[in-house]
Amino acid sequence: MPNKGKQILAVWGSPSSGKTVTVVKIAKELSINRKNVAVVFCDEVCPVLPTVLKTKKTVEGSIGEVLSAPSVTQELILKNCVCPGKNSYISFLGYKAGENVFTYAEYAKERAVDLLVLLRHIADYVVVDCSSALTDSILSTAALEVADTVLRLGSCDLKSVSYFMSCLPLIADRRFKPEKHIRALSNVKPRQDSGGYENTYGGVSYRLPHVAAIEEQFYSLALLDGLSGKEAKAYETVIRAITEEAFGNG
Ligand SMILES: Nc1ncnc2c1ncn2[C@@H]1O[C@H](COP(=O)(O)OP(=O)(O)O)[C@@H](O)[C@H]1O
Ligand SMILES: [Mg+2]
Repeated sequence: MPNKGKQILAVWGSPSSGKTVTVVKIAKELSINRKNVAVVFCDEVCPVLPTVLKTKKTVEGSIGEVLSAPSVTQELILKNCVCPGKNSYISFLGYKAGENVFTYAEYAKERAVDLLVLLRHIADYVVVDCSSALTDSILSTAALEVADTVLRLGSCDLKSVSYFMSCLPLIADRRFKPEKHIRALSNVKPRQDSGGYENTYGGVSYRLPHVAAIEEQFYSLALLDGLSGKEAKAYETVIRAITEEAFGNG
């Protein structure tokens, strides 16, 4: 049975801040409790499926098929979900290798909202990996509006600061509730001036540390694998706390 509490988390932030990594790690954390998790990858500039799926089989499903259909149905969503194999509780929905903005017909915001609403019925939890390019992704902006919780990731560099200065005004409208976003620093390396960036972002609730093994997993399509070591434990503690805040009843 789908749970009745907070169900949709949208993860948004600057380019390369670690959105995709964080989304997959949160999905893995949720799946530990044998809950079904739908992971939605919005990026159509750099399709995510070929960067997270370790499979020799040709990937058949694409979120583009769902969003460009005359109407979104549960059956269509399920047909286009891809199972990452290792973890039967997790389903991926995203653009596949070779696709780009011209592959499918344009879709309206209603389609994106329909998809997210239906996913609430299909899965216990939905985690959306939003595109940083908000103006190009109707699905990402719809997710920021519809999600029960938004996690905003920034990294400790000026590019990330510049990104938020440019993009926060795009979601200043009340319907996006930007003041409610959970703010976190991501991929924080020991020598970075995280305190300074924390202030620049108006304070953060979490700091996700850089873990060398995660970078390895990323490059070997193994983000759903477990981690070991002290660094990893510290990282997982933060992921668990974010997951609890995002989906807990508080
Ligand atoms: N906590 C982390 N520790 C180590 N590397 C990380 C961490 N978070 C992200 N990365 C690395 O940063 C890069 C960008 O991450 P990614 O999730 O693709 O960012 P985004 O989805 O925001 O573009 C990748 O090489 C990834 O391995
Ligand atoms: Mg990404």
